[in-house]
Amino acid sequence: MTRIAIVEGDGIGHEVIPVAQRVLELLHPEYKYFPVDVGYGRWEQTGCPCADGDISALKTADAILFGAITTPPMKDYQSVVLRIRKALDLYANLRPVKGEGFDIMIVRENTEGMYSGIEEIGPDRSTTLRVVSRKGTERIAQAAIRCARQRLGKLTIGHKANVLKSDVFFRDICIAEAQKAGVTYNDKYIDALGLDILQHPGAYDVIVTTNIFGDILSDVSSYLVGGLGLVPSANIGDRYALFEPVHGSAPDIAGKNIANPIATLRSAAMLLAHLGDKEGAARIESAISSVLSSGIRTRDIGGSTGTREFGGAVLRLLG
Ligand code: NAD
Ligand code: IPM
Ligand code: MN
Repeated sequence: MTRIAIVEGDGIGHEVIPVAQRVLELLHPEYKYFPVDVGYGRWEQTGCPCADGDISALKTADAILFGAITTPPMKDYQSVVLRIRKALDLYANLRPVKGEGFDIMIVRENTEGMYSGIEEIGPDRSTTLRVVSRKGTERIAQAAIRCARQRLGKLTIGHKANVLKSDVFFRDICIAEAQKAGVTYNDKYIDALGLDILQHPGAYDVIVTTNIFGDILSDVSSYLVGGLGLVPSANIGDRYALFEPVHGSAPDIAGKNIANPIATLRSAAMLLAHLGDKEGAARIESAISSVLSSGIRTRDIGGSTGTREFGGAVLRLLG
């Protein structure tokens, strides 16, 4: 039986995940859905945001639907999101940004770079070690190339090799992999790429980049489609897969029934496609488009429909 772990997490995760879960339950009543409670709320209640048993539970799932987790910027608090990505070795973070005249896939390395976790805060100095390994770079380059082959076959490597030696290394390995695979490629400095993706989004197909650059680039490029409420992601490894909106727990709007559930619905569509149900994925996407064209929208994109009510409109179309 197909098992789906459901992690609401914190903040608007409690609002957008139930919408997407109901859609999945409608399309796949035969799946088994089970909750895993991790995050800041769990830490406040129990002193532990994520136990070893939670990681084991996540590993029993065929796919994970994940909301968002609050990570307070405290000295000794370890990000649960990063812990899960590393524990499940979800090394490829795929973030599609698609609109009129452009269809971009940002492929973000998801386990190392600035997020390697080798860091310290001393009395007068703090350091974070940016690790870029050959294995980590080869596998993310290969994932991006596989992705490009299913699309237009164009790879752009985003880096800062003019300043960072670790990015000379990253760029050169990506180029070597692209040449070996025979895909068309170019490379661009990440700062210039951040502007160019907004000015000429149609020029891009697949972009591969390191962890934190992909993080920033994906929030920036969400501007092209109406903001963070719309952009989904897939975190894929060789064994496990987790699907989550690109946005966070949005404490500023949590609990008000105004969050846009589209990013999470699209993440659920990516989950179905990953499990082989491309038709179910397409049905979710087309239901979202129909609801939007009928003028039903949440506040972030100029409407006044609530989170639950938007979900209700999608469910009615699918049902
Ligand atoms: P955020 O993405 O939560 O919010 C940024 C802005 O976008 C806010 O103004 C928010 O209201 C808006 N927004 C986000 N999602 C929206 C939606 N679905 N509908 C309408 N508006 C939406 O980023 P932040 O405020 O920088 O971070 C908040 C918390 O979330 C932090 O603790 C951060 O660490 C965490 N975070 C978690 C994840 C994750 O779990 N994967 C991702 C990003 C941030
Ligand atoms: C994201 C988030 C995470 C990241 C944080 C919450 C660790 O911003 O998924 O984009 O930086 O990867
Ligand atoms: Mn982010």
